[in-house]
Amino acid sequence: MPPYSVSAPVSCDVDFETKHIARKTAVVTGGASGIGGAYVRALHAVGLTVVIGDRDLKRGEALAAELEGSRYVQCDVTNWDDQVRLFKTAADVSPSGKIHYVVANAGITRDDEVFAFDGSEPKKPDLSIIEISLHGTLYTTKLALHYFISQNGTEPSPEQEDTCLILIGSGAAFLDVPRSPQYCSTKWANRGIMHVLRRTAFLHGSRVNVISPWYVRTSILSQETFDQVEQSGVEFATKEDAGQCLLRILSDPTVNGRSLFLSPRKWAPRGYLDLDHEDYPGNELMQEIQADQIRNAPVELGLFP
Ligand SMILES: NC(=O)c1ccc[n+]([C@@H]2O[C@H](COP(=O)([O-])OP(=O)(O)OC[C@H]3O[C@@H](n4cnc5c(N)ncnc54)[C@H](O)[C@@H]3O)[C@@H](O)[C@H]2O)c1
Repeated sequence: MPPYSVSAPVSCDVDFETKHIARKTAVVTGGASGIGGAYVRALHAVGLTVVIGDRDLKRGEALAAELEGSRYVQCDVTNWDDQVRLFKTAADVSPSGKIHYVVANAGITRDDEVFAFDGSEPKKPDLSIIEISLHGTLYTTKLALHYFISQNGTEPSPEQEDTCLILIGSGAAFLDVPRSPQYCSTKWANRGIMHVLRRTAFLHGSRVNVISPWYVRTSILSQETFDQVEQSGVEFATKEDAGQCLLRILSDPTVNGRSLFLSPRKWAPRGYLDLDHEDYPGNELMQEIQADQIRNAPVELGLFP
């Protein structure tokens, strides 16, 4: 795994091999249904052992029963002990004892009480979007790093086996989305976590990438809301393309520090593309500022200088 460097966008209109990732083990949070369920199905279809962490017992058990060899662990991502149990189970059921891929997918949205105004005395806002989509993701990130570093050590070597953390953004991770400060802040934050990790990940044989879904019809919004969006002329992306997007990233060990946009087919023939917005391409001043940002603590100092 080479150190991070600014690279060309990931080619997303190509066939790819998945044979070499069969028999690996993946954890997917929020994997019982929705896009998470599609990630689980895609990983299972190419031979991985998949461990589903989700708070929805009924759907989680049903999916694990359907997909032979997969496992469900009831897990609320906001509960640290639940996530510890999820990862321990994954290592226990993994044929190699290792966890290779982690998809920090669990997330919600709801009416945003930070933005709401009703004219009365302001009330302390409900911050559950942040608790699930950011605190939960940070717990998942910590555990993923713990297992990756335990398995691979902190210095690059040929013995290190590829591992990868996938964080979930959204259009709301890089576009203007009025009236939803909490949801947008969690999605920008997930991209931020990727930026934090992508330069040191090679030290422990790992990668970190983001998938940013466009509208996909799931249970995250009411069907009425999805209908309204569709009727306004917006074309949706699909869960099936999300599964392929994930496999595109995991099957290619050179893909690190990228965000793939899960897109309607009108913008991308396979339903996902690299919008190439993570490195400010062509902006030399930004490259210079970035170099200064890490000048006093360069990656060469190691993982924990
Ligand atoms: N569907 C979209 O249009 C869309 C667009 C952009 C980003 N996303 C992101 O994709 C991810 C998945 O969204 P989705 O559309 O599949 O949503 P969904 O509501 O259909 O499914 C979410 C899954 O996460 C689980 N979950 C929710 N809270 C949890 C918690 N605290 N602990 C464990 N599991 C929990 C649910 O039980 C469910 O199985 C989210 O991060 C979301 O922000 C979705």
